Amino acid sequence: MANQPGYAVPAEIGKRVLRPGGTELTHDLLEAVRITSADDVVEFAPGTGETAREIAALGPNSYTGIERDREAAATLRNEFSGPDREIVVGDAAGTDRRAASADVVVGEAMLTMQPEDGTAAIMAEANRLLRPGGRYGIHELGLVPDDLDADVKATIREDLTAATKVPARPRTGTEWASLLEEAGFSVTWRSTSPMRLLEPTRVLDDEGVVRTLAIAYNLLTHPEARRRLRSMRRVFNRHGNRLRAIAIVAEK
Ligand SMILES: C[S@@+](CC[C@H](N)C(=O)[O-])C[C@H]1O[C@@H](n2cnc3c(N)ncnc32)[C@H](O)[C@@H]1O
Repeated sequence: MANQPGYAVPAEIGKRVLRPGGTELTHDLLEAVRITSADDVVEFAPGTGETAREIAALGPNSYTGIERDREAAATLRNEFSGPDREIVVGDAAGTDRRAASADVVVGEAMLTMQPEDGTAAIMAEANRLLRPGGRYGIHELGLVPDDLDADVKATIREDLTAATKVPARPRTGTEWASLLEEAGFSVTWRSTSPMRLLEPTRVLDDEGVVRTLAIAYNLLTHPEARRRLRSMRRVFNRHGNRLRAIAIVAEK
């Protein structure tokens, strides 16, 4: 537990929504990415499958989830298998899927944690998978303002990396948009919201009363998880005036 990646700690105590803007920003993102019954959808890093369920409920032509974590993928497979529903174990930076085989690619809370060249590789793979005119939706950690001092950015990165034990690289809206443009996309929609991932009111909004109570109980009985979450929350609060959740839709 002491060295587990940050996102696995809330998951361990039963938290299922693991993105910075919570379910609210996910709903806005899914609306902006306009999934229809004709669309072939690929999701990078479905994790606990919360967004996968929402995408499936929209009734796309097909859904493929690409998850690096074997255990998470195996759990998801119990739910998402059958005609036109598939979970694949793999790296979003290089999948075995055909080029130009998707209309929509969605990936949440997974680019911020990649090493520097990993983010560009994943965006390039999204571009390769999409048909012309296809949409790519992301939901990540943002920074404000756009001209934030480079030293402050470096400190935030170091603090987040130390607390989450994964490389953490939040970016300004302009930085996220530039990376998408360099990967061959044009940004068509963008939204930000406060970063309140571990705040009790957001947990209640995202998880509902019953699961929040179960999470609270698990926190009481898992001191190491409590310690890790406290240290992550401390860093989120320390940089709260700079950190945001950001969602972007970009078109190929
Ligand atoms: C913070 S969780 C987010 C899960 C989910 N997208 C959500 O928003 O709730 C990060 C997930 O990304 C997965 N992941 C990280 N890098 C990946 C990669 N390169 N390819 C596929 N999955 C990846 C991890 O295994 C983990 O399940």
